[in-house]
Amino acid sequence: MSAPDSPAPDSAWDDASVERSIASAEAAIAAAQSTAELKAVRLAHDGPKSALALANRAVGGLAPQLRRAAGARVGAARHRVATALAERQDQLQAVELTAQLAAERVDVTLPVDLAPPGQPHPISALMEQLGDVFVAMGWEIAEGPELEAAWMNFDALNMGPHHPARATSDTLFVDPVEHNLVMRTHTSPVQIRTMLSRPLPIYIVCPGQVYRADEFDATHVPVFHQIEGLVVDRGITLGHLKGALDHLARAMFGQVRTRIRPSYFPFTEPSAEIDLECFVCHGASVDQPDAPCRTCSSEGWIEWGGCGVVNPRVLAACGVDAEVYSGFAFGMGVERTLMFRNAAADMRDMVEGDIRFSRALKGGAR
Ligand code: PHE
Repeated sequence: MSAPDSPAPDSAWDDASVERSIASAEAAIAAAQSTAELKAVRLAHDGPKSALALANRAVGGLAPQLRRAAGARVGAARHRVATALAERQDQLQAVELTAQLAAERVDVTLPVDLAPPGQPHPISALMEQLGDVFVAMGWEIAEGPELEAAWMNFDALNMGPHHPARATSDTLFVDPVEHNLVMRTHTSPVQIRTMLSRPLPIYIVCPGQVYRADEFDATHVPVFHQIEGLVVDRGITLGHLKGALDHLARAMFGQVRTRIRPSYFPFTEPSAEIDLECFVCHGASVDQPDAPCRTCSSEGWIEWGGCGVVNPRVLAACGVDAEVYSGFAFGMGVERTLMFRNAAADMRDMVEGDIRFSRALKGGAR
């Protein structure tokens, strides 16, 4: 056995072994053609099990007088290998980056669709469809201004100066107040404008935008849409109203049951709400506390709009002879109709203008 100060000529840390380790490491580094290959080279020649790492460990066991020179030699060798690895890494990375940039090159001269096709807003589309249902029956479309005289919006509709709907909490009044202008709170003033301007008989619908000082949440928006209907002719009854509304309900929702329920509006007498059978529970939740329905609050019905026989006072305010003519009117929210028809749960989606919402409801399919 050799004495510690006379090492075996082939020890891992001797000059010749270290030179061989360096040479084989440098050859492998030069041969590596990618950073992935270089990674394997690094593990073999600079990893914890590499010849130089083993040599380094062997140095630790040497006698102090040998350790210094051997340690310096192995340390310098490892530094050389590490430097060669780093240089090759830089070279290969640069080559790979160039190749990647070439592969991912984008031809900016290729034609692109700078103006992708739009989509009618579901509310606009639905207003057209609602109008079409009546145009198909020979009715006319009527329109009126959104900035409206308070007399048209309230007084002529039998809502006197002290009617609660005139409160500033509901109505947006427009400055200067003495001009008595409001943002119309419903489409009913178009009834008045129509009776004042068109010859009898009258069969009209008015789809339009209305304004209320409402909160903005999932079921309320301060600017929304209604469709108003008005018929004035000889011999018009509540039965005609129910028939027209049933026709509209079927056109919108398919086979759905409707009911009219007594209510109050100053401009109709008698007045009613038109309800639709609940789409979710179809009435099954009524009197069933164990199986409540959130859509209809277990009522079995959901409110769709208001309606009634035109109040003779309204006919009189428009110069129509209430002894000869009678009429019916109805009005419902377009947003509400869209909610029911397309299961659109949040009204805020309807005002955000996100094209994805419009595309999802494309064509207004049920
Ligand atoms: N204008 C009423 C509203 O906005 C709805 C309605 C219209 C009621 C026509 C009856 C007749 O609530």
